[in-house]
Amino acid sequence: MPRPLRLGVLVSGSGSNLQAILDACAARRIPAEVAVVICNVPDARALQRARDARVPTVVLPHHEHARREDYDSRVVAELRARGVELVCLAGFMRIVTPVLLSAFPQRVINIHPSLLPAFPGMHGVRQAFRAGVRVSGCTVHFVDVGTDSGPILIQAAVPVLDGDTEETLAARVLAQEHRIYPRAIQLIAEGRVQIDGRRVRIADGRPDAASTIASPPVEDP
Ligand code: GAR
Repeated sequence: MPRPLRLGVLVSGSGSNLQAILDACAARRIPAEVAVVICNVPDARALQRARDARVPTVVLPHHEHARREDYDSRVVAELRARGVELVCLAGFMRIVTPVLLSAFPQRVINIHPSLLPAFPGMHGVRQAFRAGVRVSGCTVHFVDVGTDSGPILIQAAVPVLDGDTEETLAARVLAQEHRIYPRAIQLIAEGRVQIDGRRVRIADGRPDAASTIASPPVEDP
């Protein structure tokens, strides 16, 4: 197993994706370790998850910084102080600036609850649900200066069912987030990911050309 990749995870809320990452690291399913969790919301549940896992935490309330760039400078300093090699945004509800992106070029990833480039921004599940899509899902992508617009690393799709509410769909999407985020980190940690323009190339990603989702299902003859 290679030396664990040092992760900095940025959170704002419940931290269920952080938990999935912590669990995957602890079980040694991925060659990574969480070096620090940074949170902009002092009472976020994610902080308790980090403490329970004995991971260092830093609380940086955003209202203490007038400019986004000043905030990101603090974030960069905290990440560097702990030797972070990959920055994972996991429900971090802030727009990041070039200050962070240039400090970690091609080393900032984000999870988003839609099949990007559809439904970027806030409330990805709500947007998809209201648009009436039959298939939705989640995406891990590299972060660029746009909103949820960077090169796509991994996606998982789920059916939208007739009886769904926004909440039941969100739960189905979130379950997939917890699968793909650790997988994305694993692929990067193993050095198998290369960005080629808009496209992310993955060495030995074991593609399965036969796997499909149709909603409603199609009964093949
Ligand atoms: C997740 O669904 C994540 O995809 C979403 O916030 C939730 C965080 O949940 N992120 C975005 O919408 C970013 N635009 P968590 O705190 O339980 O991981």
